[in-house]
Amino acid sequence: MKAGFYQFNPLFGRKEDNIRKIISAVREADVDLLVLPEFFATGYQFVSADEVAELSEPVPDGYTTRMICGLSREKGIYIVAGLPERDGGRFYNSAVLSGPDGFIGVYRKTHLFYEETLYFTPGDTGFRVWDTAIGCIAVMICFDWFFPESMRALALSGAEVVAHPSNLVLPFCPDSMPVRCLENRVFAVTANRIGTEDRKDTAPLTFIGRSGIVSPSGEILARAPADREVLMVRDIEPEKARDKTINPLNDIFKDRRPEHYRPLFRRSYS
Ligand code: ACM
Repeated sequence: MKAGFYQFNPLFGRKEDNIRKIISAVREADVDLLVLPEFFATGYQFVSADEVAELSEPVPDGYTTRMICGLSREKGIYIVAGLPERDGGRFYNSAVLSGPDGFIGVYRKTHLFYEETLYFTPGDTGFRVWDTAIGCIAVMICFDWFFPESMRALALSGAEVVAHPSNLVLPFCPDSMPVRCLENRVFAVTANRIGTEDRKDTAPLTFIGRSGIVSPSGEILARAPADREVLMVRDIEPEKARDKTINPLNDIFKDRRPEHYRPLFRRSYS
């Protein structure tokens, strides 16, 4: 199947323009699973709770999710896209998965980053894997990658392709994702954004681009530049992620010894 990402520079608050841009990029693309960045239609750097409330939407009945589901139906493809979700009085940093028949599900970001913690509620969905016609697709959002438990939980639950909508500002993820994929033997598609947002008195946020597609052997199949808009697609075989062996005698899942992974007993010699 063809998995890809669209790395671009969303304009803050201009949902319709950003979505129009996605639609024209995707219409040209030959892709089965497309991953879009975190908060792809709104931009990232919210300055107040009121602004979050104004730009967040219910899922699946909000404007952005309806547009994404419509695009999935029209093209017969799967899309993972990040958006701020409103549920009653709470706000989540979420990502939806849609497919040829429309809405499939939502994941709410587990590990909030920096000023997201001021405005959003930590996700309550837990990590999720959807068994679809093109493979077992899972979602984690940006900073979730920093916690190895995220990808591990997904891989142990049968994930073959981890879609990773992102707005990365720290430099570490692109070099780390090959290890995450290798140690879990899964594919990952990180869709990051580019550009800078400087909407607050605090330091501007510059997004590092460098979106990527990585294989279960840690090979970087696609790597975007740091500062250019690009849609990249690679042919992948999700079923390869089911093989957890690294030689005839080691299977990295069967060889796990969780009984030794609890916090260690620490002796003091002082
Ligand atoms: C991030 O989680 N947006 C860095």
